[in-house]
Amino acid sequence: MEKILKELENLQEEAKLAIGKAKSDVELNDVKAQYLGKKSKYQEVMQLMRGLSVDDKKKLGMAGNDYKMKVEAEVEKKVLELEKQKIKEKLAKETIDVTLPAPKLSKGSIHPLMQVKEEFEDICIEMGYEVEEGPDVEWDKYNFEMLNVPKDHPARDMQDTFYITSETLLRSHTSPVQVRTMLKKKGKPFKIICPGAAYRRDNDDATHSHQFSQIEGLVVGKDITMADLKGTLTTIFTKLFGKEMNIRFRPSFFPFTEPSVEVDVSCYKCGGKGCPLCKHTGWIELLGAGMVHPNVSEMAGYDSKKYTGFAFGVGLERLTMVKYQIDDIREFYTNNLKFMRQF
Ligand code: PHE
Repeated sequence: MEKILKELENLQEEAKLAIGKAKSDVELNDVKAQYLGKKSKYQEVMQLMRGLSVDDKKKLGMAGNDYKMKVEAEVEKKVLELEKQKIKEKLAKETIDVTLPAPKLSKGSIHPLMQVKEEFEDICIEMGYEVEEGPDVEWDKYNFEMLNVPKDHPARDMQDTFYITSETLLRSHTSPVQVRTMLKKKGKPFKIICPGAAYRRDNDDATHSHQFSQIEGLVVGKDITMADLKGTLTTIFTKLFGKEMNIRFRPSFFPFTEPSVEVDVSCYKCGGKGCPLCKHTGWIELLGAGMVHPNVSEMAGYDSKKYTGFAFGVGLERLTMVKYQIDDIREFYTNNLKFMRQF
């Protein structure tokens, strides 16, 4: 009997060691089967029960229960230990090396046309201008007739227009917003700029596009003169180009302004000395402008004797091309990332 009990004791020691050595759930399960399972040595020992006296049966029964409880407790302990180990390994694997360089984030930027438009707007807002907008699909009446260009007037040929019906069109310039604003302001003075798209039936090339952008300016008030126009444009372009700019007027013709001028600004690259950018003239032709024609004021309900006004219209693409020395207008619309990323 002593021998049997001793054997159980040894078996328990052996089980404890084996459990301690198990490195995984699978190994632990094997060990468990080996020391507690149906074909285990433990079961073999317990089979010896049959041939024992009642007293010894009791003793072996108790010793067997004790063995089972202790070995099961060891297994339980090991299960927890393996669990902890697993978590530890997982955490070790998932640690973040904060010293590694981060993956590159690609960042968008503002389109060059949008940048120059916003700069232009900010400069004018600072000077007390309001920003007005009008529709791209416009009435012939606002695009032409109320700008002193009646039907069949030869000046219509200056702008080859996309007509939608005989009365509606894609606006060929932003000047119809002059008419809309004058009608809205009902005879009162004001200062506005209007940025927006314009459309003309041009064949697209390096300097022409059937859709482009203009910024229109209009000031109506008492005693507004050409000198105000010149001073205003000088201030705007000096701020926009970030250096002293000169303005030059050349006589021109627009049906809605009288007198009308073509406006040149001093070449911002050479400052007027002459260089390839200004074709060695020292000047860059940039916009059209003039004093609001009395016919236009009167048609829009303004007393042309009481109020005068100046207007200008500048091509945003042309302005941006000059500022950044871009030589093809199509760059703005063809989504070439190599080009875009420079801004
Ligand atoms: N609307 C004219 C054009 O597109 C430009 C302009 C605007 C001229 C305002 C004079 C006054 O050509």
